[in-house]
Amino acid sequence: MSKDVRIVANWKMNKTIREATDFISKLPNTIAVLSIAMPFTALHACTKNKPPLLSLGAQNIYFESHGPFTGETSAEMVKDAGAEFVILGHSERRHIFSEDSGAVNKKIRQALLCGLEVILCIGETLTQRDENKTVEVLREQLFESLFELTEEQLDQISIAYEPVWAIGTGKPSTAQMAQETHFMLRSFIRDKWGQVASEKIFILHGGSIKPENIQELSSQPDIDGVLVGGASLDVGVFTQIIQNAGNIKK
Ligand code: PGA
Repeated sequence: MSKDVRIVANWKMNKTIREATDFISKLPNTIAVLSIAMPFTALHACTKNKPPLLSLGAQNIYFESHGPFTGETSAEMVKDAGAEFVILGHSERRHIFSEDSGAVNKKIRQALLCGLEVILCIGETLTQRDENKTVEVLREQLFESLFELTEEQLDQISIAYEPVWAIGTGKPSTAQMAQETHFMLRSFIRDKWGQVASEKIFILHGGSIKPENIQELSSQPDIDGVLVGGASLDVGVFTQIIQNAGNIKK
């Protein structure tokens, strides 16, 4: 059996409280390592009767702790509602809501301060890849988002590399191309934070993950897990993904 890869669902703006709790009640209770990033509104209800090894997370926070920021939600609030982690810097936040790596850095600091684990998302667009800017873009997103964070803080952070051209398109990166980029990201971490940090950090892969490609992608040496969008919305399809990754105990 393969190792337990880290599987993280990103539900995006989907599922009411009832749909979310219903989904969780249908997960096999023999799952090993699994996380679901869900809408704020469903978090609290999902903390009840969840499988013990399932961790719940949010998809965004604001970087201030409280105050006159109408419509925003703080790290403390999502923690209070049951989140153990938060996804930050997702490409939809960067491209639709114009979030830059400076803001992502502030959000990461606030999340860590409140005891939330962080999954930092980075990825290049198709135009950037075509213009041979992938390395430059990923280096910039990684180092600016993690600006002045210590090796100790890095212990609470995972990276999710999601090429933007593979998100929601049904056209995933090839395993070889993904492995090459993950290897490069790990070497960036090693150069800045050292060998131990680079070996410890989880580097997840995302973009059109499905039952058919999970095995090949997650068995690459530098891919430690996956971030699953569309295919995490249907409990049957998602269960197939965790099964194919070997994360269901027999
Ligand atoms: P997708 O989304 O699996 O639907 O491509 C992944 C993501 O945006 O995290």
